[in-house]
Amino acid sequence: MSDIELKNLTKSFGQGNAVAGVSLTIKAGSFTCILGPSGCGKTTLLRMIAGLERASAGQISIGGRTVDDPAQNRFVPPDQRGIGLVFQSYALWPHMTVAQNVDFGLRVQRQSAALREARTAEMLATLRISDLADRYPAQLSGGQQQRVALARTMALAPKVLLLDEPLSNLDATLRLAMRAELAHLHRSFGTTIVFVTHDQWEAMTLATDIIVLADGAVQQLGSAVEVYDQPASRFVAEFIGNPPINVFSAGSPAAIALIPPQVSQPNSITASLRPEAMDVIAQDVGAAQIAGALGASVTALIPTGGSWIVEMALNLGGAPVLHATSARPSVHVGQPVAIIPQASGVHLFAPDGQRLPILSPAQKEKP
Ligand SMILES: Nc1ncnc2c1ncn2[C@@H]1O[C@H](COP(=O)(O)OP(=O)(O)O)[C@@H](O)[C@H]1O
Ligand SMILES: [Mg+2]
Repeated sequence: MSDIELKNLTKSFGQGNAVAGVSLTIKAGSFTCILGPSGCGKTTLLRMIAGLERASAGQISIGGRTVDDPAQNRFVPPDQRGIGLVFQSYALWPHMTVAQNVDFGLRVQRQSAALREARTAEMLATLRISDLADRYPAQLSGGQQQRVALARTMALAPKVLLLDEPLSNLDATLRLAMRAELAHLHRSFGTTIVFVTHDQWEAMTLATDIIVLADGAVQQLGSAVEVYDQPASRFVAEFIGNPPINVFSAGSPAAIALIPPQVSQPNSITASLRPEAMDVIAQDVGAAQIAGALGASVTALIPTGGSWIVEMALNLGGAPVLHATSARPSVHVGQPVAIIPQASGVHLFAPDGQRLPILSPAQKEKP
């Protein structure tokens, strides 16, 4: 199986590390998304896996074969790694039609004419560009060119497909369609897909595994549910989620109110609460008496299509609190309310940003 293993992988372009000591395994057959803000090293990481960039230190192996190891002076060039690549800037052959571009790699592989024709037609249909077969790249929109680049790479049925923001030039409708195509391709061919994106929604909806990257280092590797429900760091908690997680800074009255009593040094701990992990009820139904409830008043009701955001000001002060709900809110602007946090939606972070496990008092007693 073609697992991709990275060990202590580091890339420096002179000053500082673009990728800083990344160690992880990308499982064969997975749909792995590398997710992180602009400039965090996503493209550099992908280019090293592809062999377009040499590691400064560390190792890469694909399917058990070491393909990059500067210490051993070992480097396998891109065309011998068994991978397909689609990059943000997709270089199509300008003098070839769409069909010729898609056919090109198959011709290089010396496939039979019958196979080439069938495969090209299949890829053009899959990416919904059959009607563009005879056009030249200059006659295509950015989104159409992007689909040609995808078709050209997928035609070669690589075992590993590396995609660097391949949907970035598509409009919203096409993006949805192409996402569905990629998911379908992954299911039907079992291709290992490594997909770079800065779009958390894209990552959450497509990936079997998400690698969250910040400043060249891995913050977390897990499923969409894991990175959302168990963020390993404050960075992950804040980067993933829309509307974003509510953060209560260390020492603020709201943070102190949210931190369970068994947590030591509560003044140093940042508390956060997912927008959907709370109940908001009108004060006049006796909510003030509920243990752990935070008093607030509603400042705005924001419709977001299928759901609502309730914006509130805490009586304790601090930043506004957002609550996301699929039900039409029964509260109104200006109304005093009680916020009742769900324990599972509260995440605590140490001063260094690392997740703090919430231990029950009984667990804390154990040595
Ligand atoms: N060829 C290069 N020369 C110098 N610095 C580079 C080069 N490529 C990338 N970098 C730097 O490395 C960091 C990571 O870049 P990149 O991998 O492109 O990030 P991302 O794809 O996440 O936006 C950035 O600070 C960028 O400026
Ligand atoms: Mg990039």
